[in-house]
Amino acid sequence: MRHLISITDLTKSEIDELIELGLKIIENPKDYSEVCRGKKLATLFFEPSTRTRLSFEAAMLELGGQVLGFSSADTSSAAKGESVTDTVRTVACYADIIAMRHNKEGAPLAAAMKSTVPIINAGDGGHQHPTQTLTDLITIKREKGYIGDITVGFCGDLQFGRTVHSLIKALLMYSGIKFVLISPNELRVPGYIREALRHHNAEFVEIERLEEVIDELDVLYMTRVQRERFFNEADYVRLKDSYILTLDKLKTAKQDLSILHPLPRVNEIAVEVDDDPRACYFKQVLNGKYIRMALIMKLLELV
Ligand code: NCD
Repeated sequence: MRHLISITDLTKSEIDELIELGLKIIENPKDYSEVCRGKKLATLFFEPSTRTRLSFEAAMLELGGQVLGFSSADTSSAAKGESVTDTVRTVACYADIIAMRHNKEGAPLAAAMKSTVPIINAGDGGHQHPTQTLTDLITIKREKGYIGDITVGFCGDLQFGRTVHSLIKALLMYSGIKFVLISPNELRVPGYIREALRHHNAEFVEIERLEEVIDELDVLYMTRVQRERFFNEADYVRLKDSYILTLDKLKTAKQDLSILHPLPRVNEIAVEVDDDPRACYFKQVLNGKYIRMALIMKLLELV
């Protein structure tokens, strides 16, 4: 039985296969509408979510399966003090596969150790978010035609942004990626990510000003400052407006730049940018449903 806890649980060829399957589903979604008939997906979300939970549910429904779950810790027995592992052992009696989001880093891993069904990490604290990464990768593939030989800028909260950590780890599997890490000094990537970049001899720079590098980028991955992970509100308030992408700032950017964002956006991308052809974040949302369809099929061994 396979779980997906970290993006590195998949090999590069498995990721490429998932992307190819996702692209096939996009071409002919109807061909997959019965694949999960009789199967159930449980979504256990101990933390807020719109896209990740609903895209998992939409993915399972489009595969002909069914869904159950909860969308906040308050409405589950976690509120009574139940452990994550007991919750998962219980839900494994009701569902064939589980997608779980938790504020504690490592909770999905702990769950996987006790689960009799596949567990998918749908985000654990400030750590990892592998299915957002699959979403980001299929988006890069669709927009650029190929994953490699590009300069990718990551901008915003690189310390607590779990989607950034997983995407950097994934892109390290591909060749010719140059990483430009743009953040306030206080929100630079964690040490283990910097170590991974060094270990792979990746070309990377860490800088504070987006304007200085925007013209070099092929992909710009914007992120929200992760308020819920800050230890005090004053630090959040000081850093929350560090970056606001506007049409004016995009004047020097490449014409074929792809702007990605895992969403939700707060104010780091001005709404005026949404109509620019370089904005890909709502296309990214749709891609996320298709790649999750591919992932569910793989973990249920239906491909
Ligand atoms: C992200 C997350 O939950 O980490 N959202 C998502 O799943 N698309 C990013 C964020 O919350 O800022």
